[in-house]
Amino acid sequence: MKVLIIGSGGREHALTWKILQSKKVLKIYCAPGNPGTALLAKNIDISSCDIKSLLKFVQKEKIDLTIVGPEAPLILGIVDLFEKNNLAIIGPSKRAAQIEGSKVFAKKIMLWNNIPTAKFVCFDDYKSASKYLKTQKYPLVIKAEGQCLGKGVSVCQDDKSAQKFVKDIFINKIFKDEGKRIVIEEYLTGQEISFMVATDGINFASLIPSQDHKGAYDGDKGPNTGGMGAYAPVPFVDSDMVRRIEDEIVKPTLRSLAKHGNLYKGILYPGLILTKDGPKVLEYNCRFGDPETQAVLSLLETDIIDVFEAINNQQVKRLKLRWFKSSAVNVVLAAKGYPKEYEKGKVIKGTDKYKGKKDVFIFHAGTKIQNKKLLSCGGRVIGVTARGKNLKEAIDKAYKNIGKKGIHFPGMHYRKDIGKKGLIPKL
Ligand code: AMP
Ligand code: GLY
Repeated sequence: MKVLIIGSGGREHALTWKILQSKKVLKIYCAPGNPGTALLAKNIDISSCDIKSLLKFVQKEKIDLTIVGPEAPLILGIVDLFEKNNLAIIGPSKRAAQIEGSKVFAKKIMLWNNIPTAKFVCFDDYKSASKYLKTQKYPLVIKAEGQCLGKGVSVCQDDKSAQKFVKDIFINKIFKDEGKRIVIEEYLTGQEISFMVATDGINFASLIPSQDHKGAYDGDKGPNTGGMGAYAPVPFVDSDMVRRIEDEIVKPTLRSLAKHGNLYKGILYPGLILTKDGPKVLEYNCRFGDPETQAVLSLLETDIIDVFEAINNQQVKRLKLRWFKSSAVNVVLAAKGYPKEYEKGKVIKGTDKYKGKKDVFIFHAGTKIQNKKLLSCGGRVIGVTARGKNLKEAIDKAYKNIGKKGIHFPGMHYRKDIGKKGLIPKL
């Protein structure tokens, strides 16, 4: 089988690594991929959002299966385009992908189906939003409609900052064509977890729960990032909690999508917060999480192509996932300045010695090769993923491989507390 993976981050490198282990796969292509995927597959210079060129490539090369990493091509409708041309692709249709693309769509599904989430109100004009904010208690959360370059969510501590954000959205149009509607919602507290399921739209198989670390600095301090590291499984999410999440969140979400003609196929990843009243949905994602996938896939024993085939053949009911009885941690090494303006072009050292290693994996994200040197070119540069017999061992192993004795580059910054939340038995 020939497989194409769309995307260029750490998640796609981890997917390539895992797919390469499948006996069913002969050749892997990545579009556009990164220097890490280039070691395992053939990189093709087509951007993830150029869905027409991707279609042409797949037809020409007779690719048997396409896996979509990031949300953007899904929201653009790559699955609809491919399926119209009788091509196998993993991911939801354009309409179903709205669950990530539109905060209002997602909130409506939750409201109609009593799926636990923060209380909310929607607005599409500045005046009413501003008036409403004046009557509210703080903190509260404002979410702009659309992708908004990942900057559409603001946790506001007071009326002044909330008023500024809605003015920026509606009057100053900082998100240009996006942000035409906003959701203002209650601020929730609790541990955040990532819960991914593989689904054919009717049945689903839950992947092991994981936890991302979104704050730029230790203790979840600092600005929000794409994710500074992740670990899996999460010790304080026991089997009762998993069942509750499946019953109260995953099942009604899939049922509602199917009922309204948006059968959801692929990976559904609700981002959850475990409040004192139970798990609640913060957002839905229509894809694998990054950096959670790097940790989760390194623990998956099942051939991942079996998972994808089950999704496409409506056989998820029969799918039984097997996991290694270990823990995994992925620490992201970021460029100096990230998530604000950051440095680029720094030489990354130490990657060579990890080839073929069984318990430490290096997944590239923002890297490039220039003059035969591996250089940084993105905010989240490279991730160090380690597997251990327990979480403590995985954490120690990951950190041992960062710095002068492992992976390093000038100015790199990373959190020193990835996985620490999982070391506390009950939260
Ligand atoms: P989202 O893109 O909706 O996941 O929001 C990004 C981040 O904002 C989340 O990971 C949370 O840390 C925070 N956040 C979003 N919604 C809420 C909420 N209702 N209460 C507290 N924090 C939130
Ligand atoms: N780890 C957050 C995300 O993938 O959206």
